[in-house]
Amino acid sequence: MEGALYNNERHSDIIFSDYGHTWESLRRVSHTAIRKYAKSDDLPKVVDEVVRETVDLIINKHGLNKPFAPKLLVFNMLANIVGTIVFSQKFDIEQDELIKFKYCSTDFQSDLGIWLVLYEFMPIIRCFMRNPLIKYAKYKDEIMKYIMDIYASHNDTYNRGVIRDFCDTLIMAKHEAVEQDKLTAPYFTDENLAASINDLFMGGVETSSTTFQWMLQFMAYYPKYQQKLRDEITREIGDKVPMVDDKPRLNYVMAYISEMLRFRNPVSIGISHKAMASISYGKTLVYYYTNTAF
Ligand code: HEM
Repeated sequence: MEGALYNNERHSDIIFSDYGHTWESLRRVSHTAIRKYAKSDDLPKVVDEVVRETVDLIINKHGLNKPFAPKLLVFNMLANIVGTIVFSQKFDIEQDELIKFKYCSTDFQSDLGIWLVLYEFMPIIRCFMRNPLIKYAKYKDEIMKYIMDIYASHNDTYNRGVIRDFCDTLIMAKHEAVEQDKLTAPYFTDENLAASINDLFMGGVETSSTTFQWMLQFMAYYPKYQQKLRDEITREIGDKVPMVDDKPRLNYVMAYISEMLRFRNPVSIGISHKAMASISYGKTLVYYYTNTAF
């Protein structure tokens, strides 16, 4: 049911799409955008700016050496990092759009609880209960409208020589596909590209903010490891802005992040995938159209 909100007669996205040309084309262009950006110098600059703003906000609001709840601040920080990379937008913690993004990417789970699972997997129960996704669907429509507006203003001001963010990369892919008459052209509709931008933002913020919160929690519980992280950063980076090229020298930091992703994986059963043909997986027969999670 949730997937139908992302893939319908109006648009298709990447995360909830079935395998096919649309999924393949949108996925490829999004991955290219992520890979290019991950290696560029723009990413460390954005991270540095947003982290500084967040630290200032914490100090102004809570003072120094005082306990505070980091959850919303971390979500806001990651929303600002990913938002800048994806569509050059920053948010305020109280902003209506961010509250709705947060509901659709994370809060709906605690709001709906078991009812969503029952409604999704036990069709009979739908005769006796109201669709639990009404609020979700309303927020999702509002978010899509917000993203379509951002997409439209990017489209109007697009300049091939100045690629500002992922949104521009996707618009560039659309222009190239149309100009060169590529087979992907029909799949790069404005609506599909906006839905993919939504995927990049929602997928990126929820996963990284959850991981970051676990990292903070473990550093607070284990000051010994926190100190080792600090020592390595002071020794290898000092006061300069960390760059992607510094990663090979930050062995302890990288191991800490990898271990955190393993130990407290934010997407522990991954995203379900639908079998497009009946297959045997080991001794298990997976029938055509069955949704599986590994
Ligand atoms: C801690 C960080 C992250 C984790 C743990 C994570 C995890 C995942 C997982 C498990 C999938 C499903 C893959 C599959 O089964 O096919 C996925 C897909 C995806 N993620 Fe992430 N992700 C993270 C960060 C990000 C970020 C920062 C972005 C974008 C800015 C992003 C964008 C996407 C997109 C677009 C997809 C769907 C495309 C595909 O299937 O390849 N993710 N992610």
